[in-house]
Amino acid sequence: MTGTSSVASQKRLAGKVSIITGGASGIGASAVQLFHENGAKVVLADIQDTLGQALAQKLGEDVCYIHCDVSNEDEVSNLVDATVKKYGKLDIMYNNAGILGRPLGSILDAPKSDLDRLISVNLVGCFLGAKHAARIMVTQGQGCILFTASACTAIGGLATPAYAVTKHGIVGLAKNLAAELGQYGIRVNCVSPYGVATPMYEGFSADTAPMIEESLGQMGNLKGKIPKVEDMAKAALYLASDEANYVSGMNLVVDGGFSVVNPTMMKALYPAKL
Ligand SMILES: NC(=O)c1ccc[n+]([C@@H]2O[C@H](COP(=O)([O-])OP(=O)(O)OC[C@H]3O[C@@H](n4cnc5c(N)ncnc54)[C@H](O)[C@@H]3O)[C@@H](O)[C@H]2O)c1
Repeated sequence: MTGTSSVASQKRLAGKVSIITGGASGIGASAVQLFHENGAKVVLADIQDTLGQALAQKLGEDVCYIHCDVSNEDEVSNLVDATVKKYGKLDIMYNNAGILGRPLGSILDAPKSDLDRLISVNLVGCFLGAKHAARIMVTQGQGCILFTASACTAIGGLATPAYAVTKHGIVGLAKNLAAELGQYGIRVNCVSPYGVATPMYEGFSADTAPMIEESLGQMGNLKGKIPKVEDMAKAALYLASDEANYVSGMNLVVDGGFSVVNPTMMKALYPAKL
């Protein structure tokens, strides 16, 4: 077979060894499944042991679960070492674990403790994941480091200031690591999701998910489609695969165009049409 059909039928991560943090739930769990379907060996790291172990068991021998709090350097270091010990190398480090903190809120009443917690999980967690992955990848002379940032890195007003700070920090980290690690053949990129209904949202459940999705769809720019965890996992798969062989330092915003649209001008000019 030639052309696109042969590409589509290939396992796009065949032979690759990957770590996915925050892999027990939401976007991470979807990426675990997609990377596995595409032939990768996947080490799923999380602090939700029961969920993580159940997913690893469901998918079989090429997926394993390791408990890892990404804000703890010893645990991150052990995660990377255990992966290399088991599989002999590390091709893809997907730093996806994150927390939302308060969903909305002004800086005026933002507790510093909230900022500290968000920074330690979202930003320090990514920093440590990248640091320990790079330790292996530099000696290999190749590798791919991915982060889940957020569409709030492309437009203001989507998140609390504290959450936005952490996600902007991740994009800055990715750009700087792309610059530093390019000489070793290591690519570094971000996936930046628009809102997706996951357990990260307070009040999320199987029952409330359709309502959350409906309101995200209403607020979204791209009509007739609902943003799903699989859409974010597919963007991560692209960046992790050899199809993105020469892509580095990129923040791939997966938001249906939300962050490039200015709705207020058209609303002011043509209120009746909108
Ligand atoms: N859902 C959205 O709308 C959305 C939008 C933009 C960005 N994101 C980002 O996507 C990523 C995944 O979030 P999600 O929506 O799938 O949420 P989720 O809550 O379903 O998944 C996050 C996972 O991270 C894990 N985690 C939390 N703290 C951890 C820690 N200290 N160490 C290890 N694991 C930890 C959780 O246990 C959970 O399994 C996060 O970085 C989040 O900020 C989500």
